[in-house]
Amino acid sequence: MVVSNSTVAPLYLERLERSLQGRHPRVHSIALPDGEQHKDWATLNAVFDALLGSRCDRDTTVYALGGGVVGDIAGFAAACFMRGVPHIQVPTTLLAQVDSSVGGKTAINHPLGKNLIGAFHQPQVVLCDIDTLVTLPDRELRAGLAEVIKYGPIADWAFFEWIEDRLDDLLARDRQALMHAVRRSCEIKAGVVALDEREGGSRAALNFGHTFGHAIEAGLGFGTWLHGEAVAAGMVMAAALSVRLGMLDRHASERLESLLKRCGLPVQAPAMAPERYLELMRLDKKARGGEIRFTLLVGRGAARLGTASDDLVRGVIAQAVHRSS
Ligand code: NAD
Ligand code: GLY
Repeated sequence: MVVSNSTVAPLYLERLERSLQGRHPRVHSIALPDGEQHKDWATLNAVFDALLGSRCDRDTTVYALGGGVVGDIAGFAAACFMRGVPHIQVPTTLLAQVDSSVGGKTAINHPLGKNLIGAFHQPQVVLCDIDTLVTLPDRELRAGLAEVIKYGPIADWAFFEWIEDRLDDLLARDRQALMHAVRRSCEIKAGVVALDEREGGSRAALNFGHTFGHAIEAGLGFGTWLHGEAVAAGMVMAAALSVRLGMLDRHASERLESLLKRCGLPVQAPAMAPERYLELMRLDKKARGGEIRFTLLVGRGAARLGTASDDLVRGVIAQAVHRSS
């Protein structure tokens, strides 16, 4: 069963189906409605309807052909269908190639928050064909670069400096530059996941910028800001919090902000009340006993979970909302 969406299926479904002929006795497909606002129960159920309607059984492999939304829904469907069938990720956005297709997190959104209903279910294969990125809209490419940039501050400052040097090539979709960015991002992510698959601790480094970012996505309504855009503003806020806690030098946080700006990503947070941010962040999966835990930078190229007083967080939010972008 190939799960795709109404945008990606017309572009790449036929090619994938052709390459699957001979590998599977039957190939079925479903094109989901496109958009983060459809990452929900109704769409997940449409995948189950297609699987059951096509008489799929436990020998079925679910392929995800699309961006992170398709990947997360298809992966979750594979985790649940008949108590779990294999799945293969064929990511077609930069964001999905460098992040969401790798590591086995699958989920749908709940009206109260991002990715709150899901399962860990590792793909058997992740196939990144960077030629699919030629059709990706510019805004989506930039949103994907936010997750590429994320790996520098949390794990590899030399990679951050490489992105600073090669950003223009990445934005121009230079093949070699994109290939290096995808490969290095996947190496870093796979290394982190291998040490802590179920996020008992260190995997939370990958959530840098996501605590604030998920609050932005849910608070504005899913699909208003792209995931990568919300993560960009969220990284600026998490870096500012790290500076205020004395864990990161200010110059490093300024370099991060200026790289995100050069990328055309938002560094100013949307104007929601600090109490609304706090309320949404208390639902974050990293929170424990109502206490929000943030992924903070500890110097250049390392991250760890930490807490901060609500007053300090309110200060960071106020600064981020009033920053001129
Ligand atoms: P997306 O899946 O919405 O794709 C972005 C847009 O690009 C969509 O309109 C899509 O149809 C279109 N598109 C996809 N490939 C295309 C192509 N090759 N050419 C033209 N258009 C194309 O968004 P995304 O940024 O890929 O993924 C974001 C999602 O991923 C969020 O829901 C986020 O929560 C999730 N995510 C999950 C993980 C994880 O570990 N599971 C990690 C990061 C993000
Ligand atoms: N994108 C966060 C993670 O995979 O853990």
